[in-house]
Amino acid sequence: MRIILLGPPGAGKGTQAVQIAETAGIPHISTGDILRANVKAGTELGQRAKGYMDAGDLVPDEVIIGMVGDRLDEDDAKAGFLFDGFPRTVPQAEALERLLAERQEPLDVVLRLAVPQDEVVRRLTGRRTCAGCGRIFHLVFDPPAEEGRCDDCGGELTQRDDDTEDVVLNRLEVYRTQTEPLENFYWERGLLRDVEAVGDVEEVQERIQAILRNFR
Ligand code: AP5
Repeated sequence: MRIILLGPPGAGKGTQAVQIAETAGIPHISTGDILRANVKAGTELGQRAKGYMDAGDLVPDEVIIGMVGDRLDEDDAKAGFLFDGFPRTVPQAEALERLLAERQEPLDVVLRLAVPQDEVVRRLTGRRTCAGCGRIFHLVFDPPAEEGRCDDCGGELTQRDDDTEDVVLNRLEVYRTQTEPLENFYWERGLLRDVEAVGDVEEVQERIQAILRNFR
């Protein structure tokens, strides 16, 4: 399957993506995770992206499009993919459309996760991520058994640099102005499906799986 997860920062894309990818047997491709790995490793790409990410602004389209093209050439993407955080602008969506047309690999569905703004701010300011395995926690909604330690690998839980309230508010504004137009882009192509993303993680996953069953 070829799936896009669309939704504002904090909608739960990364949280839901893990199980969707596992159930469908496809790689979870998060452009945010790829960029953060590059920042951590101090690569040229990471150095170029860091300033944009820390401010909550988007990394330039040409950087992202090249990065995604390379990722789709890897072997595991032959089975399909689940994009999380990509595309984020109309030029990115158009570039993906061209790339997939060349490869004769059309998209199956775009899932839009809908969450109100106040919930997003609560989710992001309480998010903690394992520095070892990347598992996502929340201080209130999904706390670890031991404070500051990952339940799965014992790694240290860290807060993302862009999860402070002022940066979160900018990310939401960037989403509204630059990413929301994609909802119409995919609606016009008959690919958009809405998912109510408030409620337990498991409930939201069940809503997603109910939609995906139509495509298997
Ligand atoms: P990216 O990493 O893509 O961040 P984002 O889209 O802002 O999304 P988040 O990862 O913040 O949220 P999420 O929806 O995954 O929520 P999560 O599941 O973690 O991008 C970061 C930056 O990289 C961008 O600002 C930009 O600079 C750059 N970038 C990335 N892609 C780019 C692109 N294509 N073009 C240009 N620039 C790009 O959940 C959040 C919290 O809520 C967690 O604590 C979780 O435990 C909790 N939670 C989840 N679900 C629930 C639930 N149902 N109930 C209660 N709590 C929940």
